[in-house]
Amino acid sequence: MTMNEGNEAIILEKRDGIATIKINRPDVLNAVNMDIIEGLSRAIDDIEKDSGIRVAIITGVGKSFSAGADISMFKDLKPAEARNFGFSEITRRLELLDKIVIAGVNGYALGGGCEIAMACDLRIASEKAKFGQPEINLGVIPGAGGTQRLPKLVGKTKAMELILTGAMIDAQEAYRIGLVNEVVPEERFDESLEEMARTISQKGAVALALAKRAINASLHTDIDTGLEIEKDLFAVLFSTEDKEEGVAAFLEKRKAAFRGK
Ligand code: COA
Repeated sequence: MTMNEGNEAIILEKRDGIATIKINRPDVLNAVNMDIIEGLSRAIDDIEKDSGIRVAIITGVGKSFSAGADISMFKDLKPAEARNFGFSEITRRLELLDKIVIAGVNGYALGGGCEIAMACDLRIASEKAKFGQPEINLGVIPGAGGTQRLPKLVGKTKAMELILTGAMIDAQEAYRIGLVNEVVPEERFDESLEEMARTISQKGAVALALAKRAINASLHTDIDTGLEIEKDLFAVLFSTEDKEEGVAAFLEKRKAAFRGK
């Protein structure tokens, strides 16, 4: 299935419970314009409503994941328009989505590209991937969550360095500082992404969603509030069919067949 027919800035495909969102403006390294923002928004709407989808992959067409916001739009952008760009809201929606989202970083993830990847739950990088927040070189700062998510992912020390210098780092360095989960050779990239998506898609959908919610809560709550949230969500899972199935399967020494209920 393809969203945004006509220019296909965003391609949405679905197979076996896994949705793949492809950012498709390879001529400009998948720079994010309004077509991409609107296409992503529609793709998220679609995935949100589709109970058959447990995992979504976001990746880029061509040699780039995304080289960030389309800089040509910045030329005449007024302050209020910059504030209401809508990009930050897209990254937040990915973070709040009750499905697991994996960034498949196939190349440049710069500026908004890095910010999309950071809003995902997991990041798999090709060894060709490059990361950075180069906004400072344009006289601005990250505007789609970069100043908030980068410190949470890699700590204040590295986040300051990356955002203040605008330096680009390679996939190995991104792995070393904890920005990505895994770096894989280019020829194994699609397969590794698929493998991760498939492994997760076989788990119970409710447990996946609540694990994501509980982990995200830990980043902005005190420990006692966080533990209360965890206990509540843990308790909810004891009302699911998937918990019955998971426990029965273990005791019967067979593989669980979760149904997402
Ligand atoms: N916005 C608009 N156009 C962009 C873009 C962006 N963020 N990033 C790349 N492009 C365009 C280039 O202008 C070029 O278009 P052209 O062929 O019409 O000249 C095309 O994509 C290819 O990019 P090019 O710079 O020629 O490729 P490269 O391999 O030499 O360099 C980068 C790659 C990523 C290092 C370089 O494109 C770059 O620095 N991009 C901007 C990154 C950035 O600052 N992002 C933050 C935005 S807030």
